Amino acid sequence: MRAILLRDFGGPEQFYIGEAVVPALSSREVLVKVHATALNRADTLQRQGKYAPPAGASNLLGLEMSGEIVAASEDAAIYQLGDQVCGLLAGGGYAEYVNIHEDLLLPVPDGMDMQTAAAIPEVFLTAYQSLVYLLQLQKDETILIHAGASGVGSAAIQMARSLGAKIFVTASAGKHEVCTALGADLVIDYRQESYKTAVIKASEQKGVHAILDFVAGSYFSDNLDILGMDGRMVMLAALGGMNAPDINVAQIVWKRLKIMGSTLRSRSLGYKTKLVKDFAKDYWPLFESGEMRPVIDSTVSWHDVADAHRRMDQNLNAGKIVMTID
Ligand SMILES: NC(=O)c1ccc[n+]([C@@H]2O[C@H](COP(=O)([O-])OP(=O)(O)OC[C@H]3O[C@@H](n4cnc5c(N)ncnc54)[C@H](OP(=O)(O)O)[C@@H]3O)[C@@H](O)[C@H]2O)c1
Repeated sequence: MRAILLRDFGGPEQFYIGEAVVPALSSREVLVKVHATALNRADTLQRQGKYAPPAGASNLLGLEMSGEIVAASEDAAIYQLGDQVCGLLAGGGYAEYVNIHEDLLLPVPDGMDMQTAAAIPEVFLTAYQSLVYLLQLQKDETILIHAGASGVGSAAIQMARSLGAKIFVTASAGKHEVCTALGADLVIDYRQESYKTAVIKASEQKGVHAILDFVAGSYFSDNLDILGMDGRMVMLAALGGMNAPDINVAQIVWKRLKIMGSTLRSRSLGYKTKLVKDFAKDYWPLFESGEMRPVIDSTVSWHDVADAHRRMDQNLNAGKIVMTID
């Protein structure tokens, strides 16, 4: 089969389309002919040699895909050959074919195109894990979502809205309309003003109940300052740096804060199976009815993978960059 390969770790110029072996099927796996995949920030790190796939996962990039089932192991029983599906991968989506455990698949809803379906699994399952499992966000609570126009952020805004929460987000100029259209109540241009000051003002000094953070670094201290009593924060990345200066840890104690970190790719099959099942039960009807859908920044052919990565490297995307495997 053909796949997107790397000559060496480094910049987007390292990509080329070459030959790879069609994956063999393990128990309860199916083989999917990939129609579309979508970029995730982790792909840009893997490309640079900074994020190795977990043990046993494909070395190819690609954490999600949509396509058609073309083969199945003998004990796979949920889907039929020819079914259109999308699914969560630990790697391997940047290719013509990929193997996936049938429990990690979702059926592409009637009327939804394959490009849209490919953009759902990674960011919506991450948002579900963060808001429902970890933050346990409640109706009428206020959440601050950093990088609101990112793939994960744009999914999290929609999920927070569905939960009945009040939503504050940070995003750079030019991405505010996307966040507002999804349901954000307050969009803060963090490059122009202190998001801490804006949140304190908008919350009338009360702060927020929950924060979804990808930035860490200098944000850590401000995030602690604006969490209210019994506040919760989930940290998913450290886009702004690994070290957090000037921390007043006393706040964690006296405000009874819960500071959590999480990953998705390296989780066990059992965990991911439950996550996909719970997410499907709670949210797949909203995708079927069209009430919820991923924000698509752009759709490109996989021949333009280098340009797609450059766009993400430069923080130009609002929502998902989808690649068609043609
Ligand atoms: N741990 C997990 O389970 C998990 C799962 C999925 C994703 N993630 C992480 O979640 C993050 C979002 O992923 P994605 O694929 O949705 O990303 P994405 O679409 O590429 O969006 C990332 C956005 O973050 C903002 N940003 C970048 N650097 C920043 C900085 N230093 N300070 C503040 N904002 C910054 C930029 O938006 P602005 O232009 O608005 O600044 C950028 O467009 C990534 O860091 C990814 O690795 C973690």
